[in-house]
Amino acid sequence: MKNIAFPLVALLLPALGTLCPQSGFCSAGPKHPAPAATASVAHPNAQLTGKELDHKVEALLSQMTLAEKAGQLNQFTAGVATGPGTHRENYDLMIEKGELGSLLNVTDAATSNHYQHIAVEKSRLHIPLLFGLDVVHGDRTTFPVPLGMAATFDPALVEQTARVAAAESRADGVNWVFSPMVDIARDARWGRIIEGAGEDPYLGSAMARAYVKGYQGNDLSAPDAVAACVKHFAAYGAPVAGRDYNAVDMSEISLRQVYLPTYKAAIDAGAATVMSSFNSLNGVPASANPFTLTQVLRKEWGFDGLVVSDYGAISELLNHAIAADGPTAARKALTAGVDMDMEGDLYLTRIPALVDSGQLPLAVVDEAVRRILRVKFAMGLFDHPYAPDHAKPYEATREKRALARKAAEESLVLLRNEAVQGSGPLLPLRAGKTVAVIGPLADSHPDMLGSWAALGDEKDTVTLREALSSRLPPGAVTYAKGTEVLGTSDAGFAEAVDAAKKSDVTVIALGESRDDTGEASSKTHLDLPGNQEQLLEAVAATGKPVVLVVFSGRPLAIPWAAEHVPAIVAAWFPGIEAGPALVSNLFGDTNFTGKLPVEFPVSVGQEPLYYAQLPTGRPAGNADLSHPPTNAEEKYLSRYIDEGNAPVYPFGWGLSYARFSYGPLSVKHTMGTSQDVGKIEVGVDVKNTGSVAGTETVQLYVRDMVASVEQPLRELKGFQQISLAPSEQKHLTFTLGFDDLAFYNVDLKRVVEPGTFKVWVGGSSAATDEGEFTVLQ
Ligand code: BGC
Repeated sequence: MKNIAFPLVALLLPALGTLCPQSGFCSAGPKHPAPAATASVAHPNAQLTGKELDHKVEALLSQMTLAEKAGQLNQFTAGVATGPGTHRENYDLMIEKGELGSLLNVTDAATSNHYQHIAVEKSRLHIPLLFGLDVVHGDRTTFPVPLGMAATFDPALVEQTARVAAAESRADGVNWVFSPMVDIARDARWGRIIEGAGEDPYLGSAMARAYVKGYQGNDLSAPDAVAACVKHFAAYGAPVAGRDYNAVDMSEISLRQVYLPTYKAAIDAGAATVMSSFNSLNGVPASANPFTLTQVLRKEWGFDGLVVSDYGAISELLNHAIAADGPTAARKALTAGVDMDMEGDLYLTRIPALVDSGQLPLAVVDEAVRRILRVKFAMGLFDHPYAPDHAKPYEATREKRALARKAAEESLVLLRNEAVQGSGPLLPLRAGKTVAVIGPLADSHPDMLGSWAALGDEKDTVTLREALSSRLPPGAVTYAKGTEVLGTSDAGFAEAVDAAKKSDVTVIALGESRDDTGEASSKTHLDLPGNQEQLLEAVAATGKPVVLVVFSGRPLAIPWAAEHVPAIVAAWFPGIEAGPALVSNLFGDTNFTGKLPVEFPVSVGQEPLYYAQLPTGRPAGNADLSHPPTNAEEKYLSRYIDEGNAPVYPFGWGLSYARFSYGPLSVKHTMGTSQDVGKIEVGVDVKNTGSVAGTETVQLYVRDMVASVEQPLRELKGFQQISLAPSEQKHLTFTLGFDDLAFYNVDLKRVVEPGTFKVWVGGSSAATDEGEFTVLQ
């Protein structure tokens, strides 16, 4: 395979082709012809190209010494370490000597300006620094975690929150955010599922575009714009066994079909930077992978911005054992296409000697420097390098809080809402009742922020307990913690049970703490942590109506609750307005609109769990085997013998106080197999048959019934949000074209094949309203 691939890679990467024999990367090349034409590729961000920009970059580059060039390729942390690092200090001197291109983790304007003044005024060539930070769901104003933002199915809202985050970051001296994280994640064991949009490439792509547009606006050089950084390239979200940093091994068809589209969506939206990931991909570490970094990203997608490694990922090439020493690691990463070394020390210290000894062509170094300078020029940093001097303390303005509240309300997913004691559904809660608020997350300020909360401050958060107490009359709310998140003692159970007994209704807030999620937080258990399940069962045993609010950064396995607790809300980590948003939805002041961006499993053993499963030769029913068969005849099926295949709650699921009914689908027009030969139009009437107004996310799924390569049983290919008053009905249409129906065939060509397709429209991936159409030859 190595020998077959080499000439092809050499052909596609003319600048690097000659390096293949010594780098040994040739085996990382595609087994098949590259699927996209490489010659006429478009440049997705016009601000990163052009004669004028090239002229400025070349003029500066021509003045740089080799040491200064190596300096530009470096980034060190100047704040808290977010991984094992180099423990460098005295950046003042390094910056003055031109040894740094960027710093990360600077979080205030004064420090940022201090370093920038040195770069701009004291370094020989006056090249400004980039300041990067993990602003992932807000800078100081903390919005719901990205998985919660994905549950809104509302890209316009996501864009608005990213705009606020950009402006706040810029005011704090940060001009580069390490977001969006667009890794498709189908395994809830992986803690970083919290940072992205979940399991689906279509939804993930919509979210990816929204974040990039929000951060960068239309003009990268605007004073309130920051450069976005698409991460973690590539396929970091599919580690074997859900264990963070672990190897990723997948077919190139899956890679291109499922895992790459979200990164591409972000690049097409103009993202200026990309972060290469920690994992290896099919045996080649992503931070030294010429196939993903050069062939796909640069050649096929036309990306002109800069690629930064993840934290220490270049030094970690030694642990990956594809390099025996630092110089080799540096050479491999740089030639593969990683332009900047985050907290690695290898580019700075090794590149000059590698070039001087002839092991690394200067042209490769120059190209990486160009990409970094391009971003700096495009951002206007040479003209306005500094953060505004603002002594003013942060103020959570009314507008910001309102946006955080709206985002939180929309992120909440009503999973279940059953009738209790002969009356209607338990929610919305009625006025005039007494409420017990119980659980370790009912009054936890820090946990409301979620992981990667940047400058988020727990003082800005309002908890569920606080919001309930301010909504209800004095004395109407009784609080009992019951246990800790990871509690083992039941000493607090009695107080919790008493509180439930003496109140009309109980709201119990359980789930994960913010530290149980995010980076390096993979898990082998997905149940409610500690003894929270026992607390829940003890409280439910009082017979009083119980509303369960689950805070988490991943789907949890809550099958008992799903059967015994009448009302359940998935709240993720909602941000500063957690409590008010929950109370507003629980009392019906606002309606639930959130939908699940990930499936909730019955048990951890089902993971990775996702709706877009491929067919099997021995399907167990329609993959909805909620009760495992016990008779021997049904043995030889694709199923577990001790559990069903189906999730507790499927992708796209989420209830409302309104009720929506769907009319029959109308499927119009025909299309052919080539680009631009017709479109299919799917129409449906949606009616609110309930008694309150509501907003539904209408989702469209398709299946290619017979194809040369197995296609998923269903794939999301459209969604629209529609608000309806009681009894109101609206007609919605969806259009499907080549891009919606195309897949990668065995030759890695993106094709639409003729034949029958099924289509479903409804309120979740379990939609039953079905239609059919044919694609003609
Ligand atoms: C994470 C990245 C993050 C970087 C900088 C790494 O450990 O994987 O997502 O952007 O640290 O903080």
